Amino acid sequence: MENKKGAAGMQVIYLVGLVFMFCLSLTVADYDEMALESVAAEKNDGNNDMQTYIVWVQKPTSQKFSAESHEDLESWYQSFLPETDANSNQLTKQRMIYAYHNVATGFAARLTPEEVKTMETIEGFVSARPEKILPLQTTHSPDFLGLHQGFGLWEATNYGEGVIIGLLDTGITPDHPSFSDEGMPPPPAKWKGKCEFNGTLCNNKLIGARNFMGVGKGQPSPGPPFDLDGHGTHTSSTAAGRFVEGASVFGQANGTAAGMAPKAHLAVYKVCTGFGCAEADIMAALDVAVDDGVDVLSLSLGGPSIPFYKDVIAIGAFAAIQKGIFFSCAGGNSGPFNRSLSNEAPWILTVGASTTDRILKSEAQIGDDKNNHFDGKSFSQPQDFDSKVTLPLVYAGSVGNQPSAFCKEGTLENVEGKIVLCETGGGVTNIAKGEEVKRAGGAAMILMNQETDGFSTLAESHALPTTHVSYAAGLQIKSYISSTSSPTATILFNGTVIGDALAPRVAFFSSRGPNKESPGILKPDIIGPGVDILAAWPVSVDNATQSKATFNIISGTSMACPHLSGIAALVKSSHPDWSPAAIKSAIMTTADVLNLAGLPIVDQDQNPANVFAMGAGHVNPSKANDPGLIYDTQAEDYIPYLCGLNYTDKEIQIITQQKVNCSQVGVISEAQLNYPSFSIKIGSNESQSQYYTRTVRNVGPASSTYNLDLLVPHKMGMSVNPGVLTFTEVNQEITFHVEFIAQDGAGKDGVAFGQGYLKWVSDKHNVTSPIAVVFD
Ligand SMILES: *[C@@H]1O[C@H](CO)[C@@H](O)[C@H](O)[C@H]1NC(C)=O
Ligand SMILES: *[C@@H]1O[C@H](CO)[C@@H](O)[C@H](O)[C@H]1NC(C)=O
Ligand SMILES: *[C@@H]1O[C@H](CO)[C@@H](O)[C@H](O)[C@H]1NC(C)=O
Ligand SMILES: *[C@@H]1O[C@H](CO)[C@@H](O)[C@H](O)[C@H]1NC(C)=O
Ligand SMILES: *[C@@H]1O[C@H](CO)[C@@H](O)[C@H](O)[C@H]1NC(C)=O
Ligand SMILES: *[C@@H]1O[C@H](CO)[C@@H](O)[C@H](O)[C@H]1NC(C)=O
Ligand SMILES: *[C@@H]1O[C@H](CO)[C@@H](O)[C@H](O)[C@H]1NC(C)=O
Ligand SMILES: *[C@@H]1O[C@H](CO)[C@@H](O)[C@H](O)[C@H]1NC(C)=O
Ligand SMILES: *[C@@H]1O[C@H](CO)[C@@H](O)[C@H](O)[C@H]1NC(C)=O
Repeated sequence: MENKKGAAGMQVIYLVGLVFMFCLSLTVADYDEMALESVAAEKNDGNNDMQTYIVWVQKPTSQKFSAESHEDLESWYQSFLPETDANSNQLTKQRMIYAYHNVATGFAARLTPEEVKTMETIEGFVSARPEKILPLQTTHSPDFLGLHQGFGLWEATNYGEGVIIGLLDTGITPDHPSFSDEGMPPPPAKWKGKCEFNGTLCNNKLIGARNFMGVGKGQPSPGPPFDLDGHGTHTSSTAAGRFVEGASVFGQANGTAAGMAPKAHLAVYKVCTGFGCAEADIMAALDVAVDDGVDVLSLSLGGPSIPFYKDVIAIGAFAAIQKGIFFSCAGGNSGPFNRSLSNEAPWILTVGASTTDRILKSEAQIGDDKNNHFDGKSFSQPQDFDSKVTLPLVYAGSVGNQPSAFCKEGTLENVEGKIVLCETGGGVTNIAKGEEVKRAGGAAMILMNQETDGFSTLAESHALPTTHVSYAAGLQIKSYISSTSSPTATILFNGTVIGDALAPRVAFFSSRGPNKESPGILKPDIIGPGVDILAAWPVSVDNATQSKATFNIISGTSMACPHLSGIAALVKSSHPDWSPAAIKSAIMTTADVLNLAGLPIVDQDQNPANVFAMGAGHVNPSKANDPGLIYDTQAEDYIPYLCGLNYTDKEIQIITQQKVNCSQVGVISEAQLNYPSFSIKIGSNESQSQYYTRTVRNVGPASSTYNLDLLVPHKMGMSVNPGVLTFTEVNQEITFHVEFIAQDGAGKDGVAFGQGYLKWVSDKHNVTSPIAVVFD
């Protein structure tokens, strides 16, 4: 701890990245190959009405299917498919893409809408819908998170040894040094997974690798799961990459790269290209992964809010947690807009993205005045750019025949040798803006945020010298441009700077709550590093690296998710008997809500981030390993909760794969789930109290006393009973009651929501649950 920034000048690098469209570094050939792959899948069956449907069915009570007898189940699934003439058995077989055995009762098949209509009349049919393609949500991080070689949490958890992390992503680059198995023990005996790479590409680090792209769509074998994109290599190394010294890109962020759990095993399931991930493939990979024996599943992908019984990730995750598998997902890159989350189910850990204290710094200097400069970020730090010379500066919104402030392709004219000010957004990626400026002969670009993105900027690899500045800085630069007849500017490149006291900050793109599908569960759960994250990459981005140790810096909740997956693996390694909900509780109740300066964590506007932006706060791995108390939940506890969402018995059965009768199991309100946070809705004119209970288990010292510390939300009253928790044994459970009551005028003063916390405080532990109140 004394050497926060790393011993011997060694800076450990954060691993994490942003949605695909923000990443460069794919060669054109890669894209062509992927495009061909999906075209082949579409053209295959020559019937234009045919689509891949996911079909949910319900097992007849009369018929028993043994777990071993996959044939039984498959031939029963086949019986739902259209009957054709006797000779077409082969064709019927081809209709079936996947028969699911573990995470779902159902299958994926090529069908026409008419055939689905016919199928609806067959006994046991529950529902069917065409599959969708879900998007991916695209390294200074172990050190920033307090992980250090040789002592502390890494030492205590033995770097995650013995734990298997499974990732569903774009595949992996198996021979990257981040996945070397030097000193790694063989996988645990329970491991049943497969490696589809030739020869020795799998090893004791990368123990499993499967490709689910286009399986069953009439294509030849999809081949081994090489990562043609980069996303999967990046997320895998973030979760469990080995130590690789001298990792850098464009000479920046130089240091030792490492994942969160450097000794955990990896199993990779390829279900995505850079264009997205097909639901039938996701489900198939989960079906296999839960059976293979993974301990943690990490999914940096997901679509918009959707009922859980229609959400393949939520459904697969439910089966996973029943088997004790921790399930961590990206919360989405649709922020900063409210109600923009993906992956909202309470049995999933939903992860938002924040910055680290490492900045790839550059400054926009305006005019000749060396004191007139604005902070910005830049990935590449060109040596050959002469910062001493100022260049003419123009605003893209006022040049050319069709001025485009967004620097849309083909719009810029008369910018030769000039610095061009472009605005983010407008449906044009930041990288594409830089390409347009370069095409038009511009010398450099100043990229300014749109208003919603505030102060939250990114270091991306642009086609020409660039600095990305805040909206506020952009406004000042614009007003400078209009104040003078010959505006000039230059860009100063300051290299890698460690020590942003306002880190961690919530990234503008990180999706926000409230939870749309289940407003009574606070989401996201947690934030973790997801901005400008350096991690392994299949190719050299800067063409400077001769070795295979190639890295890239990208941003996204895709990068935050595997950080949390790796941290969950560390906690699991030291507490193998903890349930997924217990590990999640430990991560949430110990999170930090203050930044490095000891002030409240801020959002993109530099205002204190609210609970809908950061959930419980920023992950603190060392504290997560020793939480004191646990809010646990078993799989069956979610059934009354699902009944409370007013799902029908049939809909719930899609998720649980077991008979459910809500009038027998009872119904609870969402906020009554034993969740480590509270999300309360107060209706207009509501004067009744709302009562909830929570049960905590003592995982700290046997004899512990916890006192209550409450921060009561705006215009609310709260009482908690008992107000002191006295434990005398390890694993002892105590239930407490919480009452919420709206005060006069609640929700009528223009304040739409309030927040607070309920904290249990002992001399050794703070166990904190955030509280959100929405006034309806
Ligand atoms: C894998 O090995 C087989 C048999 O040796 C060979 O036919 C195939 O081309 C190899 N594939 C790759 C990707 O190297
Ligand atoms: C990275 O740091 C190491 C040790 O500090 C140094 O030897 C190496 O040259 C640096 N690499 C780059 C690209 O700056
Ligand atoms: C989100 O909701 C809060 C509370 O209603 C509101 O103050 C804020 O402006 C909203 N943010 C956005 C980006 O719409
Ligand atoms: C950035 O670099 C310029 C010149 O290289 C220097 O004048 C300026 O002080 C630096 N800024 C910071 C914050 O280091
Ligand atoms: C790296 O090399 C490729 C292929 O030669 C080229 O297209 C790309 O622009 C180069 N990248 C950089 C950063 O120089
Ligand atoms: C479920 O239905 C009940 C009764 O109509 C209603 O009070 C409750 O708000 C509904 N719950 C949700 C989550 O929609
Ligand atoms: C569910 O349970 C209720 C109450 O026990 C019973 O009346 C009803 O028939 C059951 N429904 C089904 C579908 O079994
Ligand atoms: C709430 O109270 C106000 C004033 O007492 C009344 O006008 C309004 O109709 C009430 N709203 C509801 C939903 O009951
Ligand atoms: C609990 O939080 C308080 C501040 O709220 C802090 O002073 C104290 O050190 C924390 N205790 C532990 C054990 O982390």
